[in-house]
Amino acid sequence: MRSSLATTAVLVALTGAASAQDLQNSDRIARGRYLAVLSDCSGCHTAPGGQSFAGGLALDTPFGKILAPNITPDSDTGIGKWTDDEFISAVREGRGHGGERLYPAMPYPAYTKLSDEDARDLRAYFATVAPVKNEVIANQLPFPFNIRTSLLVWNALNFSSGRFQPNPQKSAEWNRGAYIVQGPAHCGTCHTPKTILGGDKNDAPLDGATLQGWFAPNITTNSQKGIGGWSKDELVQYLKTGANAWTLASGPMAEAVTHSTSQMSDDDVAAIATYLKDSGTGSTSTKPAPIAASDPAMKAGAAIYKDSCAACHKDSGMGESNLFPRLAGSALVQSDNPITLTRVVLHGTRAASTDGAPTAPAMPAFDWRLNDAQAAAVVTYIRNSWGNAAAAVLPSDIATQRASLAKAP
Ligand code: HEC
Ligand code: HEC
Ligand code: HEC
Repeated sequence: MRSSLATTAVLVALTGAASAQDLQNSDRIARGRYLAVLSDCSGCHTAPGGQSFAGGLALDTPFGKILAPNITPDSDTGIGKWTDDEFISAVREGRGHGGERLYPAMPYPAYTKLSDEDARDLRAYFATVAPVKNEVIANQLPFPFNIRTSLLVWNALNFSSGRFQPNPQKSAEWNRGAYIVQGPAHCGTCHTPKTILGGDKNDAPLDGATLQGWFAPNITTNSQKGIGGWSKDELVQYLKTGANAWTLASGPMAEAVTHSTSQMSDDDVAAIATYLKDSGTGSTSTKPAPIAASDPAMKAGAAIYKDSCAACHKDSGMGESNLFPRLAGSALVQSDNPITLTRVVLHGTRAASTDGAPTAPAMPAFDWRLNDAQAAAVVTYIRNSWGNAAAAVLPSDIATQRASLAKAP
């Protein structure tokens, strides 16, 4: 990608003064390249260790496995033969070559908000990407989900095509943030709860959702379940570096930070924060009463915490800024669905590494040290200490999580 820009520069140098049209084109390609970063196209279309945009990465959906296709301009195995309109229609309408319907594992329900100009810039950039021969058969779904016509019904129920509509009551910065979050950056693809058919629950945007064995927490300003306690600067720092005084990004969010948010311009990250800090508190649920410290699971949990956790996360649950996440007041720790929480404690994780913070600290795995009852107790303890309050996690929940992690790669 960088090389194609360099090629343009060389050509311009060879042919003397660039015409106004050449300059316009190279601007367009540069803007399109940045839009591919905002939209994290490579997050799915580049396989680990593979060539840029040559596809092959397997995505787990509730209905089965699907491979991201090759979207380089190779004319046999990529999209070299596609017209501009076909490309734009794939991105914004989920209609591929010859009108074929695409599965929403490609986030066109969010990209449909892209402006005409941004869609054209994106297209201009993708025409300059190096072509790679790599045959990918996207559809690996089992019957009946492998039948693309079933998407006709899905689309009718779940997809509404349409460009972003700015809110005239709000500032230009807020609207830029809303556009990025809802459109290119497709934050809701992971953070908005889904209906039984896998469509977005539009009455609960960014309220938190499970995906591929992770829980993407509530990122509304809800003060208990969401990130209401985060300042705008803390949010900016998290998106730029993957870490702040509250937490560190791991799993799919670490990837989103590495490939996308850490590479966004400062203005765009600030716009996202402005929008998220002023986009409502999501669905309000009443805070439960914390489980009493005298409860047997809480007592056992407190002892385990002191031995195994406090060295890093501190007795106060406050952690250490940018190194050890804060557990007190953490939305992740108190989330209704503790799947990310139990996964982190059993399996451990490593946080995102970014240019700003190259060596990421790691959370050790405890699956070999704690049995189901002990892991359940320590998790219940951190969910109900230092002002936190959330339902107990049971030994059977831990057993289920252990079994599913044993199957994971
Ligand atoms: C969350 C993962 C994901 C992201 C992010 C993503 N895609 Fe896709 N994309 C897919 C999957 C999966 C398919 C295959 C869908 C199918 O076959 O029904 C696909 C299909 C496509 C196709 C159709 C290709 C073909 O051969 O049919 C194009 C074009 C495309 N994506 C372009 C893009 C662009 C451009 C971006 C960034 C703006 C992007 N994608 C971001 C997952 C993703
Ligand atoms: C591919 C899925 C995915 C996408 C896209 C995504 N996120 Fe996340 N996000 C997650 C997951 C999973 C977590 C939980 C991981 C963790 O806590 O380390 C998370 C965590 C977060 C958190 C931390 C919340 C907390 O309480 O700890 C914030 C803030 C956040 N995401 C904001 C965003 C924004 C803003 C966008 C769009 C620019 C976005 N995310 C896009 C999956 C995603
Ligand atoms: C050696 C230091 C260390 C110890 C000991 C430790 N942790 Fe962690 N913990 C971390 C680090 C570092 C992270 C962030 C890793 C990441 O985000 O990928 C983390 C993340 C977490 C998270 C996720 C929080 C968030 O906001 O993402 C939870 C929950 C957690 N630890 C609980 C525990 C519990 C419970 C114990 C004891 C059983 C424990 N930790 C022991 C270092 C430690």
